[in-house]
Amino acid sequence: MADGDGGFAFHDLAPGEESFRDAVFSGLGRTPKMLPCKFFYDERGSALFEEICRLPEYYLTRTEIAILEHRAGAIAAQIGPHARLVELGSGASIKVRILLRALANPAAYVAVDISREWLREAAGELAADFPDLPVVAVCADYTRPFPLPPLPGPGGKRVGFFPGSTIGNFEPDAVVRFLRHCGELLGPGGEMLIGADLKKEPAILNAAYNDSAGKNAAFNRNLLNRINRELDGDIDVARFAHVAFYNEAAGRVELYLESRAAQSARIAGRRFDFAAGERIHTENSYKYSIDEFHALAVRAGFRPVDTWTDPDRLFSVHYLRQE
Ligand code: TRP
Repeated sequence: MADGDGGFAFHDLAPGEESFRDAVFSGLGRTPKMLPCKFFYDERGSALFEEICRLPEYYLTRTEIAILEHRAGAIAAQIGPHARLVELGSGASIKVRILLRALANPAAYVAVDISREWLREAAGELAADFPDLPVVAVCADYTRPFPLPPLPGPGGKRVGFFPGSTIGNFEPDAVVRFLRHCGELLGPGGEMLIGADLKKEPAILNAAYNDSAGKNAAFNRNLLNRINRELDGDIDVARFAHVAFYNEAAGRVELYLESRAAQSARIAGRRFDFAAGERIHTENSYKYSIDEFHALAVRAGFRPVDTWTDPDRLFSVHYLRQE
């Protein structure tokens, strides 16, 4: 327990983890090949992603933080007093601190994350830094429906927080399904604050995902290194190229690992063949105009009530209210 009136509770909903081996076997066994992007974030991958966030070309993180800082007053006014803030995929709980400092008497902060030990540490630190705030950590896979434990505070508004443009890594139909789940989770009157990357000049997008220091490439390739480390693989990682480009027709950055030669690899006792030039699809990162994002929110039963952007219109933060 922290000092003050706050406190710290931990709820483990024991999310059933999809086995990495099964996902790799099925993703590399199909045509075209793919690997699910949620496996990027092992310890090495998470460290590499933090380096990406500090790159001059990768404007997303710093722009979203600047919007939250600059608009904290307006955001806090929308949220109102005594709110219970529920962050989905709370990670290191950095951005939410900007909100918590601006909110009037928040009733609780609920951090939801799948990675148990990181969650325990990050939420524990936040509880220590905000001694008057009740902090509830929930270990759960937020991409599937899950129940929230009873939350402290008498009947304050529940507001979901989903920063980082992670929403862009879902297919558009999955965005609608995800937002509907959020609506059910938060209950009637629940609201959402969501960060989404905006459509823009393709050159800016292509540079963000192809930085000159090679951090995006290292992050993408780490998925193959992780397979070698954890699944007794012998993939020749240097013979896979990082490929990332903005597909303007589809409105998304597409990320691949491309085999530079015909080669084969053994993974957990099984053999996989790669043709020269064959690609493994590792992620899509959709970019939405404000109107496009609003249309998805409306399909999910939310009404867009405010949207904040930076002066260069690189990134957007949306406030959505349930109809
Ligand atoms: N979710 C991040 C994004 O869409 C992930 C990301 C950044 C990424 N750089 C990458 C994924 C390079 C694969 C390769 O911006």
